[in-house]
Amino acid sequence: MTATLYDVIERRRDVRAEFTGAPVPDDVLLRVLGAAHRAPSVGMSQPWDFVVVRDAATRQAFRDHVAGERDTFAASLPPERRATFDRIKVEGICESSMGVVVTHDQSRGGTHVLGRHAIADTGLFSTVLAIQNLWLAATAEGLGVGWVSFYREQFLRDLLGIPDHVRPVAWLCLGTVSHLETVPDLERHGWRSRRPLADAVHHDTWSS
Ligand SMILES: Cc1cc2nc3c(=O)[nH]c(=O)nc-3n(C[C@H](O)[C@H](O)[C@H](O)COP(=O)(O)O)c2cc1C
Repeated sequence: MTATLYDVIERRRDVRAEFTGAPVPDDVLLRVLGAAHRAPSVGMSQPWDFVVVRDAATRQAFRDHVAGERDTFAASLPPERRATFDRIKVEGICESSMGVVVTHDQSRGGTHVLGRHAIADTGLFSTVLAIQNLWLAATAEGLGVGWVSFYREQFLRDLLGIPDHVRPVAWLCLGTVSHLETVPDLERHGWRSRRPLADAVHHDTWSS
């Protein structure tokens, strides 16, 4: 069991180009969403919701918006970085089997959320944990997930009819894949590499 979890963590990849678009059976989708819904949350606030988007016109509209945001980011880059970025695909919105938009409602759980009084972000952390559960469960099911964040929150709210007090935290492209790459796309394309674990671990104080 333990080995399987570590294996899934290692296999998990952010997917853009490997989606096949084949349908995902309802029971598999329910297991994946169920895993997300089992995430820990501050004060049991369970601040997440999941909007499953299959509609082709909605996905195209979102993809067009993302293309504009991609251009905005590209225009901010110096020429050398821009050349590298131009080779990187940042979404598989229309090629994936569906989109799953994960939202965050900071008002869920009322005014006295146990554990959130000193750190408001713990609410958002909880929603992000649901996303990680979803990502790992999808990987265990042989599916791929690609997190898209090249969007303006208000655009996505308007597109999906999300209330103003709810934040769309991620558009997750979810679906069947031909395969999962073994090396992250950004590393393969020379954008940025993983840090060694030893650089991230400190003992007793930050400086040691
Ligand atoms: C909060 C967050 C936002 C991300 N947004 C995007 C995105 O908009 N487009 C994209 O292609 N990848 C996006 N990614 C994926 C990262 O680029 C990817 O996780 C990272 O390069 C490591 O690769 P791996 O997930 O395959 O290990 C995002 C990941 C996170 C955690």
